[in-house]
Amino acid sequence: MTKPKLLVARQLPKTPMKKIYDYFDVVDISQTEQTNEQMMKAAQGCHAILVGDRLDQPLIDALPESIKIASTMSVGFDHIDVAAANARGIIVCNTPSVLDNATAEIALLCMLGAARGVKYGQQQIEAGDWGQLGDSAPLGIDVIGKKIAIVGMGRIGRTFAKLCRGLSMEVHYHNRSKLSADLEHGAIYHASLAELLPHAQFLSIHAGLSAATKHMIDEKAIAVLPDGAVLINTSRGDLVVDDAVIAALKSGKLFAAGLDVFTNEPDINPEYTKLNNVFLLPHVGSATFETRDAMGNRAAENLIHYFDGKPPISVVKL
Ligand code: DGY
Repeated sequence: MTKPKLLVARQLPKTPMKKIYDYFDVVDISQTEQTNEQMMKAAQGCHAILVGDRLDQPLIDALPESIKIASTMSVGFDHIDVAAANARGIIVCNTPSVLDNATAEIALLCMLGAARGVKYGQQQIEAGDWGQLGDSAPLGIDVIGKKIAIVGMGRIGRTFAKLCRGLSMEVHYHNRSKLSADLEHGAIYHASLAELLPHAQFLSIHAGLSAATKHMIDEKAIAVLPDGAVLINTSRGDLVVDDAVIAALKSGKLFAAGLDVFTNEPDINPEYTKLNNVFLLPHVGSATFETRDAMGNRAAENLIHYFDGKPPISVVKL
């Protein structure tokens, strides 16, 4: 039987990659430059694409009609113009649910790392300068028992809420719709972001990036946070306005921030790296062996299901 032809614009972990090579006739461009022209040439005769950094309108326009499905190894799909792909008859698949625990763990790490001034501590260790016991200021702030405000109570937001309940935090949230009581677990719903923010001693963002959510945490939003709030972002950098966050970190309006995601990764706003009241990670929310394998398997299975004549497991719906 002739194998379907797959354009591979990014590598998957070893096990799912083997599945891909067994099932497909692979055109691997993951290690080469990926201009629209190069991708268009490589994609001739392909039936599917394993998405790399982007699948935007100009690239979609350049791809041959033979491509019917695009699979991304991520839950986020802001690097894909799903509407344009669907209009061209291309189904887009992603990998939700398998990275909930890993991402919630990183949100927890960011929250604790920011609240307890881990960056200062690491600097002291590296400099061999601990100061006197008891005056190794600056001090952090307690987390246990405080209020956490979660923006976006999808699977990752709810998993993070569970961890916060373990810290006896009072969970507040804003979501497009109120959750049922069995998913809410006593969390307090706020119908708008504006209503949520004054409760946010800690604010953690778990919303997807879209035109509606871009820059949702701006100067105005930060102004209504309690003084000395802590911001945690493990979703997408463009959900916040960097200049507003940096100004608030400098003024003390924000006590600290724990950030795993940034605008324009990896060329992030350099001001972040000059601040001490931040805990920064290089977008590693899903970066565990188990989770990356599960994501890779899902990305591969989505494609294999389609060519086996079954519905892909996770199709992005707008
Ligand atoms: C995702 O899956 O969207 C994570 O942020 C990794 O990119």
